Amino acid sequence: MCGIIGYTGERDAAPLLLAGLQRLEYRGYDSAGIAVLDDGEIAVVKGAGKLSALRDGLEGAYPPGRCGIGHTRWATHGKPTTDNAHPHLDCSGAIVVIHNGIVENYLELRAELKAHGHDLRSETDTEVIPHLIEARMDAGDDLLTALRQTLVRIRGAHAIVAMSKREAGRIVAARAGNAGGVVIGYGDGEMFVSSDLPALLTETQRVAFLSDGEIASITASSVQYVSSAGDRIADKQPQVVPFDPVSAAKGAHKHFMLKEIMEQPECIMDTFRGRAIFDPPGVALESIGLADDVLRRVSRVVLIGMGTSMHAAMLGRTYFERIAGIPAEVDNSSEFRYRRALIGPDTLVVSVAQSGETVDTLEAMADAQRRRAPQLTICNTPGAQSTRIADGVVLTRCGPEVAVASTKTLTASISALYLLACHVGRVRGVLDAARLAERIGALARAPGLVGEVLGLDARVREIANALATHENFLFLARGAQYPMALEGALKLKEVSYIHAEGYPAGEMKHGPIALIDRTMPVVAIALDDGTREKMLSNIEQVRAREGIVVGIVTAGDAELAAKCDFALELPPYEPLLYPLLSAVPMQLLSYHIATKRGCDVDQPRNLAKTVTVE
Ligand code: M6R
Repeated sequence: MCGIIGYTGERDAAPLLLAGLQRLEYRGYDSAGIAVLDDGEIAVVKGAGKLSALRDGLEGAYPPGRCGIGHTRWATHGKPTTDNAHPHLDCSGAIVVIHNGIVENYLELRAELKAHGHDLRSETDTEVIPHLIEARMDAGDDLLTALRQTLVRIRGAHAIVAMSKREAGRIVAARAGNAGGVVIGYGDGEMFVSSDLPALLTETQRVAFLSDGEIASITASSVQYVSSAGDRIADKQPQVVPFDPVSAAKGAHKHFMLKEIMEQPECIMDTFRGRAIFDPPGVALESIGLADDVLRRVSRVVLIGMGTSMHAAMLGRTYFERIAGIPAEVDNSSEFRYRRALIGPDTLVVSVAQSGETVDTLEAMADAQRRRAPQLTICNTPGAQSTRIADGVVLTRCGPEVAVASTKTLTASISALYLLACHVGRVRGVLDAARLAERIGALARAPGLVGEVLGLDARVREIANALATHENFLFLARGAQYPMALEGALKLKEVSYIHAEGYPAGEMKHGPIALIDRTMPVVAIALDDGTREKMLSNIEQVRAREGIVVGIVTAGDAELAAKCDFALELPPYEPLLYPLLSAVPMQLLSYHIATKRGCDVDQPRNLAKTVTVE
C-alpha cells in the first residue's frame, strides 16, 4: 500500500521525488523519505507523518544528486516513526531500499543477519532487504543479481526498489507477487520508476509495467529486464498511456473527493462513449477478450470485488440476472478465496477493481485462473495487474481517482457492468434489439440526470450541518438500492469516522431497529422503483421510534417527502440505473459531514487508496 518513486537522469532528483511522492501520498501517509546519490555518497532524509513533515524538515535545502528513490509509507510492521520510515540502508550505508509488501519470514532473517554481524536499526520487516543485498554484493554479485538472489530468500509478495553507491546512476526494481505494481517510465535521457502510473504522468506517458517475477535495471540511458531466474526479457517494450496528467490536479475544488464527485456525469459518459451504439442498437466493448461462444457457454456469473468495488459488483449481479438472464452471485474477493467456490470453465468470473492492484482481488482472480474460469475485469487503471490476469477488460474512463474514498469509479463501474450485461444478454439472445435500444437509451440519460442531482449540493450541505454531530447512522434500502445503502454507510464511516451501518430495509425489524431513538439519523432510499411502498412502511417504523429520517425520494412524491425530517428529491429514472443517482447525495452527505467535522477528507486516517496487503 506504500508509494514508490525513483529517478535517474540529468536533473536534480530530490524535487522530482518529492513531487512524485505528493502524487502518491494517497497510498499511505504514515511517513515518507527519500535517498539521493551524489558524488559517491547517499543522503537519506525521512520524516514521520505526512509528506509535509518531510518537506518542512528540508526547509528547501534538497540533497543534491541526480539519482534517487522515495517512499511514502503505510505502516504494517513497526510504528510510523522516522526510524521505521523508508528508505532503509545496509550496514555501510552503501545500499538503500524502499519496499511495498510484507517480508513474511523477516524475524528469522533478522536473527540470521544479526548472527552474521549485521546492524539492523528499525522495527520493520523491510530492513532485512538491504542487508541481504549487502551480503550478496560483498560476495561479488552486482546490484541486479543481488536483488534477484534476495528475492529467493524473502517470502511474501513485494515491490522493491534499490540503489547502491557501488553502481552510481543505477536503480533496480522488482515485482514479486501482488503487493502492488511497478511501472518503469521512459524519459528523454532519464528514467523513472513508480508504484503507480499517475505519479509518472507529468513526466512521461511512455511506460512499461513489471509482471510478477520481473526485475528491471535502469540508468539514465538504458533499461534491462530480467526474469527471477536471471534470463533476459528482450521483448518488453514501453507503451504510451492515454492519461491526461492535468485531470489529476484538484482544479477549483477544495478536495479531490468533491472534484471527483462532481466529475461523475463526464466519467459515466466517457465510460459508455463509443461502446453504447444507438443505431442500430449494439454494445461494442473494445477489449472484451472473450469470444461470443464462451459467453454463450457459461452457465453462471460470479462477481468479486472489495469495498466500493464490491458494492458495484452487487449491482452487477442484478444486471446479469435481470438483463442477461444468467444466474449470478457476488462475493467479497477475500471471502471468495476462503469459501473455495465451485467454479470452472462454465463460470464467468467478473472482477471489479478501481486500482486493479487490490491483492485480495488479484489472488481471487489467480484462483479463478487456475480453475480455468473465463474472466473479465472492470478497472480504472490501464495496464494494471488485474487487466493482465483477466481475458478481457472493460476500462472505466475516469482518469486517476486521487481521493481515498471512491466516488466516480463507483458510478463508472456500475455503468460498465450495465453495458457488459447488455452485451452478454445480446450475445446470448436474451435481449432483442428493441429492448437493447431501451436499455442503452436509459444509460445515455444518466450523465444529464446525475448532473441534475449534483445540483442538490447546497441542500445536502444544510442537512450535513444539521447532522454532523451524530455518532451513529443507519442506511436502509431494498432491491437494487441495497448496495447503495452499504456504500452510503461505507462512505460516511471512512471519511467522517462516524459509525454507520447499511442494511436491507427488510432486515431492520430483525435487530437494528433496537438502535433507533431520537439520536439516530436513518438515511432511507425510498424511490419510485418498485420498493417505495415497503420503504414507506420502514420509514413509518423509524418515525414511530423518533428516529431522524433523511429520505432519498422521487421528485413529486409529496406523501413520502412529508414523512421525512429531510427529503432529497431525485428525478424519476429507470429502476435498475437509479443507483447511479442515489449514490450521489450520499457521497455529498459524507463529504460535507466530514468537512464540517474537520476530517482529512482526501486522506482519511488508517486508509490507503490501494490495498496491497491481505
Ligand atoms: O482498487 P479497488 O477498487 O480494488 O479497491 C477496493 C477498495 O479498497 C476500495 O473500494 C475502498 O473500499 C474505497 N476506499 C472505498 O471508498
